[in-house]
Amino acid sequence: MQFDAAYFDQVIDRRNTDCEKWDDRSIMNEGGIPLWVADMDFPCAPAITDALQARAQHPCFGYNIDNPANEKALIGFWQRRHGLAIRPGQTLMLPCVVTGLKTCVRCFTKEGEGVAIVTPVYGPFYDSIRVNRRKVMPVSLLRDGETGRYSLDLNAMEEALRNGAKLMMLCSPHNPVSRLWSAEELAALCRLAKKYDVPIVCDEIHADFVYQPGRFVSILSIPEGQDRAVMLCSASKTFNVAGLQQAAMVCRNPEMLKALRAGIAEAGVFCGNTFALAAARAAYEESDAWLDGLIAYLDGSRKLVFGLMAKYAPKAKVTPIEATYLAWADMRAYGMDCEQLKEKCRTAGVAFTGGTFFGPEGEGFLRINFACPRTQLTEGIKRLGQALEEE
Ligand SMILES: Cc1ncc(COP(=O)(O)O)c(C=O)c1O
Repeated sequence: MQFDAAYFDQVIDRRNTDCEKWDDRSIMNEGGIPLWVADMDFPCAPAITDALQARAQHPCFGYNIDNPANEKALIGFWQRRHGLAIRPGQTLMLPCVVTGLKTCVRCFTKEGEGVAIVTPVYGPFYDSIRVNRRKVMPVSLLRDGETGRYSLDLNAMEEALRNGAKLMMLCSPHNPVSRLWSAEELAALCRLAKKYDVPIVCDEIHADFVYQPGRFVSILSIPEGQDRAVMLCSASKTFNVAGLQQAAMVCRNPEMLKALRAGIAEAGVFCGNTFALAAARAAYEESDAWLDGLIAYLDGSRKLVFGLMAKYAPKAKVTPIEATYLAWADMRAYGMDCEQLKEKCRTAGVAFTGGTFFGPEGEGFLRINFACPRTQLTEGIKRLGQALEEE
């Protein structure tokens, strides 16, 4: 099968499938175009549907063993795609990455202690800290007003650590500002973590969405940090199977791994569900061609986003997209806050994620999910233009 532009251009009707992106009427009216939640409107790799169908043929769905084949598939994928060596026994299976964030907060900090996060960032980073009654210590990214590109504020990170943060939680590549952190940037953060003796949790769920000339660098390959880091990953984002729920934590430090194992056992999390495991194995072992085709398509769409925004929302400033399928648009020149922007967009029949979902720095910004057929992306941004015209 060819995973070319024609394949990813296929329009699939996802309505009425309990699909958050399409069926959540609190976000979007009937007939709207959803360019919001990080979920792709593409068919998943055929090897995955084949594996699920094959497993469904067997009529028994009882308890599973923790089959080493699952870990082997994950290890093989990370070695092949990212050159990262993970040893058997260094991974723990999870239902989702957010479970991993919460587990790490509970395992490595105590109630009332602070967790440093680099903001604006994926909303559940805040919730993972708050629901566990820890303190969010936000470290704002620096934004270049000219280019819209973001960079780390290492001084502010050091200040958070000096002020008592007990854990550093990173998103790499960074959702929502589409930054691919370099080895140097990660190493600088690792040196700070070492200086203040705190663990690092790095959410690498977007690792596979990286565009040329960039190259993804895992926190686990940074010599200064690998003994104090936990990497969170998942086939769910890469292969668009988030509804199946299967993720993993990877850690090289035996003491930390022991604490994490106890933490997930305490929460009652075991080896994963039958279908999720079958899907993850097929994704990791048999879907490289699909993934290569996907990245090529997204790369084209990434360029299309800039053209469409220049045409339909010319006062917006879109941050350069080094990674992820999410574009971060500064809409402040239109003089509306996120709620007003979202309301106008709802009326015009399109939905984006409002920037404040990622923290207060996101006020006046929209995040655009461009992982959909290009006809849909084009129509969605055209509708954004109509929403802005109604001013
Ligand atoms: C940075 C980041 N982490 C985690 C998640 C959610 O992952 P999961 O569904 O495995 O909890 C997302 C989903 O958008 C994300 O962008």
